[in-house]
Amino acid sequence: MPNMDKYLTIDDLMKAARRRVPKMFFDYADSGSYTEGTYRANTTDFDQIKLRQRVAVNLEDRNLATTMLGQPVSMPVAIAPVGSTGMQSADGEIKAARAAEKFGIPFTLSTMAICSIEDVAENTSKPFWFQLYVMKDRPFVERLIDRAKAAKCPVLVLTMDLQILGQRHKDIRNGLKAPPPITPKFLFEIATKPAWALGMLGTQRRTFRNIQGHVTEATNLGTLSRWTATQFDLSLNWKDIGWIKKRFGGPVVVKGVLDPEDAKLAIENGADAIIVSNHGGRQLDSAPSSIRVLPEIVDAVGHKTEVLMDSGIRSGQDVLKALALGAKGTFVGRAMAFGLGAGGEAGVARALEIIRKETDTTMALMGERDIKNVGPHNIYSNELVRRQGY
Ligand code: GLV
Repeated sequence: MPNMDKYLTIDDLMKAARRRVPKMFFDYADSGSYTEGTYRANTTDFDQIKLRQRVAVNLEDRNLATTMLGQPVSMPVAIAPVGSTGMQSADGEIKAARAAEKFGIPFTLSTMAICSIEDVAENTSKPFWFQLYVMKDRPFVERLIDRAKAAKCPVLVLTMDLQILGQRHKDIRNGLKAPPPITPKFLFEIATKPAWALGMLGTQRRTFRNIQGHVTEATNLGTLSRWTATQFDLSLNWKDIGWIKKRFGGPVVVKGVLDPEDAKLAIENGADAIIVSNHGGRQLDSAPSSIRVLPEIVDAVGHKTEVLMDSGIRSGQDVLKALALGAKGTFVGRAMAFGLGAGGEAGVARALEIIRKETDTTMALMGERDIKNVGPHNIYSNELVRRQGY
């Protein structure tokens, strides 16, 4: 395994990934829709929130372990579903799932993954979570749910915010496709990315294997945008939670909630938990950041259900801010993708280690010993300063 100690932040891993991963796939991860305003707000809004420092507290025996959906986790961070993860590094989903399992946190496999449910199940020893996109082809969706069950996935994450795709300009400009087209331009580019190319030559997993071979008509496969345009079910609505839940038989988490009314509707219609998310700023551009809407959603449904969140988490400080504002747990997508691009499984492990260490030290500097005690009292707020308009 490569030594990853020189990478101290998720930003370091991002820069390394940019050097090592072909531009079309790096850009796929590092992009938001349209102006990317929401993508940026997801991180800058975290910067606005200040943590409250308390001192002279006994900091022995600190604890980051808690639960997410009843599952013990070594820290309240799960790996988010990220499409085409296996294009950041060969067999990327298997590598990320392995890193997560060694770390004791959940890995969530995307419907639009490169490695299939079966690929990941065969190459890991702990169950992972599965993220579902609902397509028009109901028998295919039912089989997908059955495959997740057969792989013993304990949690189904149902994405509700992507029936139509927010345009990401970079993907169009780059001619994004999996497998990538072998053009002279692409060959020229991968000449400078030999480790990536060697990895890809060594695997058969180069397209969307949850789908390829499992649908009768996969002619439009190759990009998420082409696939969504023709296959995703535009009629998906709250009532669909019912049959999906029944078919799966385990907890269904609704992902992509950004509004308290939707949070209530999700719960009323059977969601077992929700993930506050704007899809990493990749869908509705000009939507508020996830961290900004989190408190009102916790206020609306937090007494009834677990509220989890993603979009913008790049550090342990971010994890603590999300928890202080009421999230039970968080998800990281880009932090994982950048780690993977930078160093494969070791890179994902490094990303998780960076976040774990930051969470532990920051929690201690806040004067807390147990992550379970983090709450609104840990946010710095100063009425006097606020009244003066700063
Ligand atoms: C897939 O979920 C994407 O946002 O590209």
